[in-house]
Amino acid sequence: MNHTHFVQSIPDTLGRYDMYANIHKALRKAQCEMLIRLGQTDFARDDLASLLEDLRELLSFGSSHISHEEVHIHPAIELRAPAATTDLQHQHDSHRHNFRLLEELINVVQESAPERREALGRRLYLAYSAFIAHDFEHMFEEETLNNARLWELFDDGELHAMERAIVGSLPPQKAMAAMRLMIPAISRDERVRLLAGMKENAPKEVFEAVMEHAARPTLCREDFSNLSRRLMLTQCVPVY
Ligand SMILES: [Fe+2]
Repeated sequence: MNHTHFVQSIPDTLGRYDMYANIHKALRKAQCEMLIRLGQTDFARDDLASLLEDLRELLSFGSSHISHEEVHIHPAIELRAPAATTDLQHQHDSHRHNFRLLEELINVVQESAPERREALGRRLYLAYSAFIAHDFEHMFEEETLNNARLWELFDDGELHAMERAIVGSLPPQKAMAAMRLMIPAISRDERVRLLAGMKENAPKEVFEAVMEHAARPTLCREDFSNLSRRLMLTQCVPVY
């Protein structure tokens, strides 16, 4: 795909709901930060325990993310447009293959003798960079071609219902982990929209826990006070 084609294939949202936007921003931010961290690591000298644990956790988050799409989004599309998700499904299968390869490589790095770690660390860094390059293209396709398809097949109420089904399927710990990745990755306006919906529709203690444990620790002081101030002013949010 050449660059002109890339740009031309980006549809305007025209006010429609983009269910991929926040979570994909979260994944891109976390993946880029992980790549930088891997690049800055002295694999032969550094204690690798927390790096490798965080990498495993991020891969597991990505794996759950594609499963949620397969359970809650793809079957709904297939009911109205048979075979429309075949390409995306193949890309997910390729992701799963890559998750397994990366897991194996992480285990090899962890168990290797220190004199082998520099070479293996380079291999892990390059393998991870190739994986996220593929994932960036995949997420691009979801936010362009597949969003256009979703907007054609479903109204915004139906798209919100699919997203609610995904959020409702998450255990509280995973939901909080997703919020911790998402909140710092999105714009101030997007944070207000995301959290105003939660303030209006979720139990008070859930909203307060997200503010305390996901927003406060991940935002700079200015961004957190901007968010708190604007949420205080938010009175009425439509429930889809
Ligand atoms: Fe996907």
